[in-house]
Amino acid sequence: MSTEKSLFGSYNGTDVNKYTIKNCRGMSFSVIEYGATLTNIFAPDKNGKFVDVLVGFDDLDGFVERSDYQGMTVGPYANRIGGAKFSIDGREYNLTANEKGVTSLHSNGELSHKVWKYDSSGENYVSFTTDRRDGVGGYPGNMNFTVKFTLTDDNKIKIEYRAVSDKKTYINLTNHSYFNLSGFAGGSILDTKIKIDADYFTPVDEFSIPKGKLKEVEGKAFDFREFHKIGERIENDCRQLKNTHGYDHNFCINNYDGSLRKCAEAVDEKSGIKLEVFTTLPGVQFYTGNFLNGTIGKDGKPMKKRTGFCFETQYYPDTPNNPSFPSCLFDAGQEYTSETCYLFSAE
Ligand code: BGC
Repeated sequence: MSTEKSLFGSYNGTDVNKYTIKNCRGMSFSVIEYGATLTNIFAPDKNGKFVDVLVGFDDLDGFVERSDYQGMTVGPYANRIGGAKFSIDGREYNLTANEKGVTSLHSNGELSHKVWKYDSSGENYVSFTTDRRDGVGGYPGNMNFTVKFTLTDDNKIKIEYRAVSDKKTYINLTNHSYFNLSGFAGGSILDTKIKIDADYFTPVDEFSIPKGKLKEVEGKAFDFREFHKIGERIENDCRQLKNTHGYDHNFCINNYDGSLRKCAEAVDEKSGIKLEVFTTLPGVQFYTGNFLNGTIGKDGKPMKKRTGFCFETQYYPDTPNNPSFPSCLFDAGQEYTSETCYLFSAE
């Protein structure tokens, strides 16, 4: 096990460091202080060669100026809030409507587009922390966040989140990695097979906002309870897929009880790389990079539509306006904690 620190760039005069953690089997990941962002994951393929399975950028400018949240820690509310508003105890909060002037998406990049502070590290982990001020973007609560990234010897990246607010507020944090299990140069993700342990998903309206109802996946292009290629049904003539130009939906993880459970997996036959995702959270947004538009990323290559997919573990989108969803409303002083793991193997 080893942890190495290097300078990645500078943001408004502040150094942004990169930490690379490597285990005894040679697998490694790197994470930078800007956005507490995973920049690279080198996982072993079926021939034992290490492949960078993250779509993203080589340089800080990419993350600052051109990013679609690649690898970033997103919050205080990841995903969307409908009408960019919610109420707590009868008081309405109006948030920045950064999407089509109507919805709030990823809290307008508040946590992902800033430099986090180094918190601590050891031979197999590094952690970062940041604060936010009450009222920024309309969102209530002075808050403190910590995110810790650990690599185990069985090729698992464990991400542990903690947050606390001095006001009652909603908290929903995620990691927004885009995976391509053939490596970034591997092209489309449509042949990657995935599985999601969910009998239900949350259908969305034209603003990608769920309306309280869960829909059964049974008999639909959303049934990933057994392995299916991402591309098998993505072009099906179905309103849910057309609305979002592909998969961009929250799946309701079966038997959610707050314990760490496997919620999703993906296997790429070319590389043999398998990713298993575990989380303590109730939902996972399966997003197929529908809005990637050719922005230049690593090695000067374009990140085209469907060259990366995300499993964003989370509370359901727009939970504040959907009281039937598992709650992510935290009292002043009540700690938010969650854990998500990415386990890699090859077959
Ligand atoms: C959303 C997508 C969005 C992407 C980048 C995902 O979490 O669901 O609709 O395009 O993030 O912002």
